[in-house]
Amino acid sequence: MAYNLLKGKRGIISGALDENSIAWKTALKCHEEGAQFVLTNAPVAMRMGKINELAEQCGAQVIPADATSLEDLENLFTKSQEILGGKLDFVLHSIGMSPNVRKGKHYTDLNYDWYLKSIDISALSFHKMLQTADKLDAMNEWGSIVALSYIAAQRTFPDYSDMAQAKAVLESIARSYGYFFAKKNKVRVNTISQSPTKTTAGTGVGGFDVFFDYADKMSPLGNASAEDCANYITVMFSDFTRMVTMQNLMHDGGFSSSGITDELVQELSRGK
Ligand code: NAI
Repeated sequence: MAYNLLKGKRGIISGALDENSIAWKTALKCHEEGAQFVLTNAPVAMRMGKINELAEQCGAQVIPADATSLEDLENLFTKSQEILGGKLDFVLHSIGMSPNVRKGKHYTDLNYDWYLKSIDISALSFHKMLQTADKLDAMNEWGSIVALSYIAAQRTFPDYSDMAQAKAVLESIARSYGYFFAKKNKVRVNTISQSPTKTTAGTGVGGFDVFFDYADKMSPLGNASAEDCANYITVMFSDFTRMVTMQNLMHDGGFSSSGITDELVQELSRGK
């Protein structure tokens, strides 16, 4: 059921690679709730061609942008306002990539050029987006900007490798930039810390299946799905969350507040 939560709102949604992407589900939900938006992804991701299917379904245009390039981002924010006919009300940063994780480099043997790439793509790109939107004065008052994080920013998950630092920086950027954007024109900036989710980025992390099952058993509500995340992001873009800013919002079925659960006790007791 749709509630017209985003009727009349304009935005940018990054990171929709395929139908499993959190950004893909978010685009469908924002469309259902009445928003108009531009879709964007890295030029290399476009070659897979999938994003055009989504664009058609949502009546959206696609603007390629490498989120590490200020030039691309300037073009993205300028053109989006032209296409949508005004300033923006929401932006989703749904971007993450670590060459070290992708190429199976152990955390105790990192390639530092790749480490810098991980941080640039997964965290600094968020600052670049915020600063570009700010300098171009592209956001409407009471706008909402969201990026996606993971609890490895606070706790160690060995296979998450250098992405743990990237997420810690990402969350810190939301707090720091959130201050300035709130003062400037009441724009809020938050991160949502999502459960493990079966997407291209998620399943790229070593041992993902075990990781996923463990989190599911450790969360009283179970893992939050990509659809659940899309719903939460949509609410964060709506006028019902106008006073929420500079937060890292846990969206994890209760994982982060749980010490142990019956399911895990049963699992670990097996064979004892
Ligand atoms: P995904 O693989 O569908 O999305 C990642 C996106 O980042 C892709 O669309 C990719 O093309 C884009 N990207 C990579 N480099 C880029 C660049 N230089 N410029 C622009 N875009 C670029 O996977 P998912 O899971 O939907 O990821 C979205 C966000 O959610 C990421 O920040 C990820 O870290 C975060 N997240 C994912 C979790 C999971 O278990 N899947 C859990 C918690 C957070």
